[in-house]
Amino acid sequence: MRNENYICNCQLVTVSEIEDAVEKHGAATFEAIQNVTKVSTGCRRCYASAKSLAEGYIDKVKKTKRGGAGQLRLKFD
Ligand code: FES
Repeated sequence: MRNENYICNCQLVTVSEIEDAVEKHGAATFEAIQNVTKVSTGCRRCYASAKSLAEGYIDKVKKTKRGGAGQLRLKFD
């Protein structure tokens, strides 16, 4: 189920868009997610929560996809 709650109100980035940046675009760092979504590139009030959410999701994906047949390729910019 997609979480369409906004994590960043300036750039109108949702939680699902953060997850998509990792799953579909292979973003493996918060900076890579910013490049894809532009999250936290405005007032930066969301920076701590967005970074925590993003890095938590990256860790979760790394743990669940490790070694599987559908191994995810993450990009480290
Ligand atoms: S709320 Fe995210 S940059 Fe302002």
